[in-house]
Amino acid sequence: MSYGFGLTLDFFAVVFLSLALRFASGDVTYSLAEEMKRGSVIGNVAKDLGLETRTLSSRKARIDTEGNGKRYCDVNLNTGDLIVADRMDREGLCGKKASCVLKEELVLENPLELHRISLHIQDINDNSPQFIENMISFEIRESAVKGARFLLNEAHDADIGSNTVQTYKLQRNEHFSLDVNTEGAGRKHSELVLEKELDREQEKELDLLLTAVDGGNPQKSGSVVIHVTVLDANDNAPVFSQTVYKASLPENSPPDTVVVTVSATDADEGPNGHVVYDFDHLSDEYVALYSLDNKAGEIRVTGQIDYETEPSYELRIRAKDGAGLTSYCTVIIDITDVNDNAPVINLISLINPVPENVPPGTEVGIINVQDRDSEKNRQVHSSIQQNLPFKLVPSIKNYYSLVTTGPLDRELVSDYNITITATDEGSPPLSSSKSVHLSVADVNDNPPVFEEQSYKAYVTENNKPGSTFCSVSALDPDWRQNGTVIYSLLPAEVNGAPVSSYLSVNGDTGLIHAVRSLDYEQFRSFKVHVMARDNGSPPLSSNVTVSVFITDVNDNSPQILYPAPEGHSFMTELVPKAAHGGSLVSKVIAVDADSGQNAWLSYHIVKSTDPGLFTIGLHSGEIRTQRDISESDNMKQNLIVAVKDNGQPSLSATCSMYLLISDNLAEVPELKDMSYDETNSKLTSYLIIALVSVSTFFLTFIIVILGVRFCRRRKPRLLFDGAVAIPSAYLPPNYAEVDGTGTLRSTYNYDAYLTTGSRTSDFKFVRSYNDNTLPADQTLKKSPTDFTEVFGNFDESPEVSPSIFVSATRPFAR
Ligand SMILES: *[C@@H]1O[C@H](CO)[C@@H](O)[C@H](O)[C@H]1NC(C)=O
Ligand SMILES: *[C@@H]1O[C@H](CO)[C@@H](O)[C@H](O)[C@H]1NC(C)=O
Ligand SMILES: *[C@@H]1O[C@H](CO)[C@@H](O)[C@H](O)[C@H]1NC(C)=O
Repeated sequence: MSYGFGLTLDFFAVVFLSLALRFASGDVTYSLAEEMKRGSVIGNVAKDLGLETRTLSSRKARIDTEGNGKRYCDVNLNTGDLIVADRMDREGLCGKKASCVLKEELVLENPLELHRISLHIQDINDNSPQFIENMISFEIRESAVKGARFLLNEAHDADIGSNTVQTYKLQRNEHFSLDVNTEGAGRKHSELVLEKELDREQEKELDLLLTAVDGGNPQKSGSVVIHVTVLDANDNAPVFSQTVYKASLPENSPPDTVVVTVSATDADEGPNGHVVYDFDHLSDEYVALYSLDNKAGEIRVTGQIDYETEPSYELRIRAKDGAGLTSYCTVIIDITDVNDNAPVINLISLINPVPENVPPGTEVGIINVQDRDSEKNRQVHSSIQQNLPFKLVPSIKNYYSLVTTGPLDRELVSDYNITITATDEGSPPLSSSKSVHLSVADVNDNPPVFEEQSYKAYVTENNKPGSTFCSVSALDPDWRQNGTVIYSLLPAEVNGAPVSSYLSVNGDTGLIHAVRSLDYEQFRSFKVHVMARDNGSPPLSSNVTVSVFITDVNDNSPQILYPAPEGHSFMTELVPKAAHGGSLVSKVIAVDADSGQNAWLSYHIVKSTDPGLFTIGLHSGEIRTQRDISESDNMKQNLIVAVKDNGQPSLSATCSMYLLISDNLAEVPELKDMSYDETNSKLTSYLIIALVSVSTFFLTFIIVILGVRFCRRRKPRLLFDGAVAIPSAYLPPNYAEVDGTGTLRSTYNYDAYLTTGSRTSDFKFVRSYNDNTLPADQTLKKSPTDFTEVFGNFDESPEVSPSIFVSATRPFAR
């Protein structure tokens, strides 16, 4: 191998030449460096061998090799210099031999001369150390411990001696150092020493440059790359990408929703790096909710996620590699609320029933509204329907008071259905409602109210005791006993007797019964007050006036006041002989205690001495002559007059009227004859007194009539109340009442049927009826039989003694 360092080679040649000269003796030895350039002068062989230079050419000096070896040098015939003829590579010629000598011969002819020339080829550092491989590969397990050694191949250097590999250098690195050992033959080999453990996960492989350096000058070196492959050991546990995973999951998420994916990586390889996931100590409750894909690390929903049950979950997840190394992470799942719970309305308390008299603003109930959701979803608004006298008043937190807003009236609305509606603020909002039934309890706040403002009852006189003639009714809208009406009579007096002796009222039904038989002629009407009281406590009551009107029944016969009905009183009218037809001669006066038609009297002559002579006014009772009196007429005339009322059936009474046709009282003695042989002087004097008084009263009567007419125009009811009043005892009791109670007059005008004439005549007999006849409190009552008796008496025996006269009034005194 040749290197173009001419100068350097020349220098070596000179040095070796001078050395060779010293040892030259027949043979010459030259020492020269290998790889000298062709033509380089090794030495002057002529001079060294003592040859003449000018003869060289003639002597055909030449260099031969021993045998047929290659000729490496030549001789310059002109100068005698030995010059390099061919490349001399020591390594190629001698290999590793320590000395390398080329033997050449200089041959001269004429004479033949042979000189040996030894060329000692000196090594120069022309070869670098060299490794056989392009790369040294190692596979070192990462678990290799510190101090582990790895033998390296030697490097080779063709040079010898110090030009061969002297040392090795390792590229600076953190894991390995180099340990170089020298063997016996000076060969050096090296070892890698692990100074710091390898980590495959950090550095899978590393390349180190190993350099072998020789000792030449200049130094040469050769390098090789040591490629270290770090083999895996399961020295890495899986590592999660996060130690804590946070996920948020809406509640009610459908099954199979992926919540979060955990991921752990294992730096190791192969099975050592194959990670599987599973839950670490998961409660059964959670197991039902979540699943974990053990390869993909996906956590999915499998159950019903309810925020209200658990608002957040913390799951521990383990990752395990094939060799069993584990690590853990935490998954925190925050459940987000969904408005899935409607508000719940609870009735905490309720005053039920609530008394109707509670003042407005009374709290009647407490309501609690709850929503299990959170935040907005649990903001609840509650209300009740309109148009009720109640409202909801928000109270503490989610409590509400149910409060009355107005008065309650059980009688109007007795119960309420209050619908409470609660709506949350979620989106969409949920609402629920609850119906509360509230009854209103009764308070006795309504008095009984009669259906009518006043009642009128008509009862026919002579009613049966116990008969019902009227009913009152009062309503009380209150409840049960507060609305139970009880009727009663208010104590009062009617005609001085307690009202209860006339009437009674059925406390339950309001039916009014007569306690006794009523008599129209005694009184025609009266008023009672009926009270209706409820059974509350305290009771409420009201009262009503019941006006009882007694209606008339024709139970009284006409009562003849004049003449005396029996006709035994010797009351005789004088009829002047000169009386013309139509003259008023007398008048029958009768009254009837009844009223109306029952008291409308009609007069009839039923029997007369001379039927053609007298007539009687049908209604006036006036007896008039029908024609002029003639001389032939019987002086004594006798009429029997029947008085009938217009009732159904009608009742009647009869009387006898004695008329004396005479101008003169002197003819009176004849009266004795007429009066049925009455000779008693006492009786005669009575008669005289009677006659005189009749005439006197008749005149007075006319005057009174005029006066009464005048008065009546202004004060019609005082007919009998004036100066000429008939003493009350004279008339049946209810005569007076006609004027006393004005109310009856319009309906039952008793007076309307009393003729003027009959009134005028009344006064004639005031005295006869005065003290010994009708007591005020007794009823005028007469059956028709009483009168037939009278008629009978009249026909058979008209004569009567004064004692009989007194007793004759007795029927009226019953
Ligand atoms: C209240 O509701 C009940 C039952 O639903 C019903 O019977 C009753 O009539 C209702 N009352 C009112 C006042 O609406
Ligand atoms: C009647 O009213 C009273 C109060 O006035 C009340 O205490 C009572 O409960 C009521 N009775 C009924 C049956 O409602
Ligand atoms: C009857 O009622 C009236 C008013 O309706 C009242 O003034 C009177 O006091 C009541 N009488 C009794 C006895 O209750």
